[in-house]
Amino acid sequence: MNDRIRTDVAHNARVWNYWLGGKDNYPVDRAVGDQVTAFYPSIGEVARADRAFLGRAVTHLAAEAGVRQFLDIGTGLPTADNTHEVAQRVAPDARIVYVDNDPIVLTHARALLTGTPEGRTEYVDADAHDPERIVAAAAATLDLSRPVAVMMLGILNFVLDTEEARSIVRTLMAAVPSGSYLVLTHPTLEPELGGEGNKAAMAFWNENATPPITARDRAEFVSFLDGLDVLEPGVVSCARWRPASAAGHTVAQFGAVGRKP
Ligand SMILES: C[S@@+](CC[C@H](N)C(=O)[O-])C[C@H]1O[C@@H](n2cnc3c(N)ncnc32)[C@H](O)[C@@H]1O
Repeated sequence: MNDRIRTDVAHNARVWNYWLGGKDNYPVDRAVGDQVTAFYPSIGEVARADRAFLGRAVTHLAAEAGVRQFLDIGTGLPTADNTHEVAQRVAPDARIVYVDNDPIVLTHARALLTGTPEGRTEYVDADAHDPERIVAAAAATLDLSRPVAVMMLGILNFVLDTEEARSIVRTLMAAVPSGSYLVLTHPTLEPELGGEGNKAAMAFWNENATPPITARDRAEFVSFLDGLDVLEPGVVSCARWRPASAAGHTVAQFGAVGRKP
C-alpha cells in the first residue's frame, strides 16, 4: 500500500466514493460517511447530482461548444462516466488531464487512463493550492493556445481562504485562451437551496475527517466566475443546470459554467 494512504482517518475522495456507491473506501470512511448522512440526509443525492451535472456540462462543452481539452482538478476516484469517457464519447480526439492530491486517487489513476487511441488522458498528482504547477504539468498534454475547459467540481470548498480560492481560479483561467470555460460546483448553506442542514454535517466533518471543508454563499460562488460570461441558466443548484427532466430535486450544491470572453 502507498505509505501516504491513511486508513485511520476519513478522506474526502474515499467518502465521496462511498456516497456514490463505490467500493474504494475503508471502514473509517464508511463510518464518517454514515454519520454525515445522519446530520444531512441528502448528501448522497448531492454527490449523485454533482456527477450528473459533470456529465451534462462535459457533453454540452464537447458536443455544442466544440471543446476538445479538459483539465479536471479534484478528479476523485474513478467512477461511472468519468470526464474522459463523457468527452471522448462525443469527441474521440478529446484530451483530458486529471489532477488530484489524494494518494488513493493516484493509486487508482490507471483506471482513468483508458482513453481512446485518438485522444489522450493523463493524471497529475498535484495540489490545487499550487495552480502554477498544475498549469505547467497540463501543458505537457494540452495545447494551452487552444480552448480548455477547466473543471473544479467540489474542490474549491477545500481551499478555505476565499481570496486564495479566487486567486487559484484567476491563475488557471489566465493560462487558457479566450473561448475556454470554467465548470464549477460548490456546496452551500444557502436556504434557497435547502443547505442549512449541512452546517452541523460540515462541523462534524472538520472534527473527524480530512481535508477540512467550507461552504460558500451565492455571492462568494459568483465571485469565482468574475470576468466570465456565465452560460444559461446561470448560477443554480447543480441539479437544475440543464436537467434532462424537470423532476430532479434541488440540492445544496451550486453549479455553473462560465466562458472566457
Ligand atoms: C468532493 S470530491 C469531487 C470529485 C469530483 N470532482 C466530482 O465532482 O465528483 C473532491 C476531490 O478533490 C480532491 N482534493 C481535495 N483537496 C485537494 C487539493 N488541495 N488539491 C487537489 N485535489 C484535492 C479530493 O481528493 C477529492 O478527490
